[in-house]
Amino acid sequence: MSTGKTLPDLIEATSETVGEEVFYRYANGLTIKTEIFFKSDPQRILPLGGPQGSLMNHILNFPDGVRGKRVFEPFAGSGGLGFMALKAGAQRVDFLDINPRAAEFHLDNGTLNNFQADQFTSITGDIARFAPERKYDLILANPPFVPIPDGLEGTITSNGGSEGSRFVEILLDRLEQFLEPTGRALVYVFQFVKEGEPLILERLSAMAKSRSIELTPTQKHLLPFESYCTAYGQLFPNATVEIAQWRSELFERHGSGLTLCHYIIDIGPQSDGPGECAIRENFAEKFGEKFLVPSENEAELGFARACENFIPPTLATEGAED
Ligand SMILES: C[S@@+](CC[C@H](N)C(=O)[O-])C[C@H]1O[C@@H](n2cnc3c(N)ncnc32)[C@H](O)[C@@H]1O
Repeated sequence: MSTGKTLPDLIEATSETVGEEVFYRYANGLTIKTEIFFKSDPQRILPLGGPQGSLMNHILNFPDGVRGKRVFEPFAGSGGLGFMALKAGAQRVDFLDINPRAAEFHLDNGTLNNFQADQFTSITGDIARFAPERKYDLILANPPFVPIPDGLEGTITSNGGSEGSRFVEILLDRLEQFLEPTGRALVYVFQFVKEGEPLILERLSAMAKSRSIELTPTQKHLLPFESYCTAYGQLFPNATVEIAQWRSELFERHGSGLTLCHYIIDIGPQSDGPGECAIRENFAEKFGEKFLVPSENEAELGFARACENFIPPTLATEGAED
């Protein structure tokens, strides 16, 4: 897979906001409708960003990886990843999301792009219980991955539990129920990093007995946990006790040098012998440098991620509080 070259941006996305909807238009003609980030609705459909851009650009640069494949997009939201796979020649896609509004977006996005009804299925359900009729060749996943202090509700799109891995762990637990032995999974995650390694590495290393796994960091600079706690403090001024407790518990469990980093996990086909699990700094050549998470400004990145767990009050509520 590695070419040693920086991948070109083949998606060339432009976006247009119309009221509370956002339309992304890609160079290959695909259009995806989502909603604005600050929509005051707990069931909002997230706009597209770095996670979707990097995975889509990978798909378009390596179309053999999707052509003719049966694809599963759990945590589908608007379905951008699965629809890009269809556009690149996938045979069909099953979308799964617990939010019933996601299914409306799958229908609308299917219609916007003239996909046929038999090319995709939208399932409203929980990843913990979903039983597929058949295993898939390819899984494309962007689960809720934002770590959040216990006691804060967070959002359906982003609450990944106190270490951010709640949903990726369910997906990994159930991977062999979803994925063909010859299949591959690409999963975008956000991880606490301890002594240079994401917490999920131990778990993935155990899985590498049967499948080779590569982890690619998708940001240049690690985000200090402190700047992330500061962001939560600004967004949730009434939750200082919960935030302080979360911070001290994590430091106690993992040491005070904790940082955060985004990664793409690439889980390959089953092999006869033991596979390997490795972290590789190959983002530019595998996904395209343009899609690196901008991480120079720690405060901004911490705030952007913590914001995903915040639903802005409606103007009516704001008025009532005044
Ligand atoms: C980070 S968003 C994914 C966004 C998506 N990749 C997109 O491009 O729109 C996570 C999604 O997971 C869904 N979700 C949350 N809990 C879930 C669960 N238990 N089972 C399935 N989907 C779930 C949310 O509704 C949300 O749409």
